[in-house]
Amino acid sequence: MGKVFCLYSTGSIVVYVILGLIVTAYGFGNPSSSIPKQKVLEVERKLKQLRRHSLKTIQSEDGDIIDCVDIRKQPAFDHPALKDHKIQMAPTRNVSRERTASVKRTKSKMVNLSAEESTFINVTSQVWQKSGRCPQGTIPIRRIRKKQLLKAHSIEDYGRKKPSIFHQTAQLNRDLDSFVRENYSKAMLFAVGFRYLGAKADFLVFNPYVETEDEYSTTQVALFNGGSYDHECVEAGWAVNPGVYGDKTTRLFVYWTADGSNTTGCFDLTCPGFVQTSNEIALGAAISPISLPGDLGPSMTIYIYKDPVTSNWWVQYGEKDIGYWPPELFQDIRYNAESVEWAGEVYSTRVGQIPHTKTQMGSGMYPDGTCFDCGTFTRMRVHDNSPFLKIPEFADAYTDEYRCYGAEFMSDYLDDPIFHYGGPGMSWTCPL
Ligand SMILES: *[C@@H]1O[C@H](CO)[C@@H](O)[C@H](O)[C@H]1NC(C)=O
Ligand SMILES: *[C@@H]1O[C@H](CO)[C@@H](O)[C@H](O)[C@H]1NC(C)=O
Ligand SMILES: *[C@@H]1O[C@H](CO)[C@@H](O)[C@H](O)[C@H]1NC(C)=O
Ligand SMILES: *[C@@H]1O[C@H](CO)[C@@H](O)[C@H](O)[C@H]1NC(C)=O
Ligand SMILES: *[C@@H]1O[C@H](CO)[C@@H](O)[C@H](O)[C@H]1NC(C)=O
Repeated sequence: MGKVFCLYSTGSIVVYVILGLIVTAYGFGNPSSSIPKQKVLEVERKLKQLRRHSLKTIQSEDGDIIDCVDIRKQPAFDHPALKDHKIQMAPTRNVSRERTASVKRTKSKMVNLSAEESTFINVTSQVWQKSGRCPQGTIPIRRIRKKQLLKAHSIEDYGRKKPSIFHQTAQLNRDLDSFVRENYSKAMLFAVGFRYLGAKADFLVFNPYVETEDEYSTTQVALFNGGSYDHECVEAGWAVNPGVYGDKTTRLFVYWTADGSNTTGCFDLTCPGFVQTSNEIALGAAISPISLPGDLGPSMTIYIYKDPVTSNWWVQYGEKDIGYWPPELFQDIRYNAESVEWAGEVYSTRVGQIPHTKTQMGSGMYPDGTCFDCGTFTRMRVHDNSPFLKIPEFADAYTDEYRCYGAEFMSDYLDDPIFHYGGPGMSWTCPL
């Protein structure tokens, strides 16, 4: 440690050596000092393995390193079910479908869907793109830092959600159910009643406060199938997740699981599963600009849909297709989804506890009717078994902890409904 500092010192060697010793003593300089050598070696081996197919490296101004990895050698193909997978480079576009869908009557509300397709005026972008591009035939992968992997419980745990364990609660939350998912709090608009083949929305991007390193706050579009314990899901949106990303920046994420996060699934490309095709969008990269109170930035648009030919679940961000989850990863959701959620989610071991976590959801503001700075979803759409994108007909708002995080669906007198959600976490009403 001291040696490194000495290289830069000319006159005040002593000061730098002492500084070096202090830094070492506090463990800042060498994070692996208290970690078993075995784990350090394992992590180093893993990182080397991840980087072996990198053809170009881009240093982003926000500190991220982006590896441009040969598309045919990406992490997905380490999945046993995807050994011989043939990459689908672009989704199947159904031109006739898009044309017939140009005007669709839903619940006596007219939506001009073809006008909607062409409204990517201002979209959020990714910070690293200012520093370079990945060549054709490669995909940008945000490099996982050694520090992050060492902090994870195990290499296998890194990038995963904690399993969904439900428990009965005494808390009377509306009349809905009295079972809550342990350590998770969600506020959502959900649609059920059809077999869904796709879901979409525009939503504002915020940077909610996240109190501790092992907590996170996300906002996403998600499709689900199956029972609560072993549900399958695909989701995409933005996240503040220091445990995965190493800081509290707002980042683009995708997530999947085939068993309620018990043993399968992960964020982004941190485990084999998601097949990326875009050489422009990096999963886990920082998004900009972010909305601030009184100064709302552009929304981001996420569209997740099942390819009618290959059954791959594609993710579209703005107008760019990022990639997909192949059907081989799943059981039932490979055919369709049973529900759609537009949701904010907080993970914390102090959800439902006193004191409650201060981790915010959405913008951190609680929706109260006229709420300009709240977490906001607009232009929510679903694909059911008709070939059109529709405004969801059977949608309801729900929140796990209504005293902490709100959910407000506004559909009366509106041509196109709006969903507000979010909240501050701990406050004088939360949890009580
Ligand atoms: C495309 O859309 C048309 C019209 O809805 C439908 O008849 C056809 O089956 C679709 N083709 C595919 C490949 O999904
Ligand atoms: C729908 O929007 C498109 C593109 O803006 C426009 O060309 C078309 O005339 C619109 N259709 C109707 C029925 O308003
Ligand atoms: C789009 O962004 C630019 C620059 O950030 C801004 O000047 C402009 O007003 C925005 N337009 C819309 C329609 O939001
Ligand atoms: C989670 O996975 C373990 C190991 O495969 C299994 O024993 C357990 O029953 C699973 N739990 C649930 C809730 O599915
Ligand atoms: C939830 O958090 C508590 C600590 O408050 C912890 O003991 C428990 O294992 C966690 N449950 C799950 C399913 O992770």
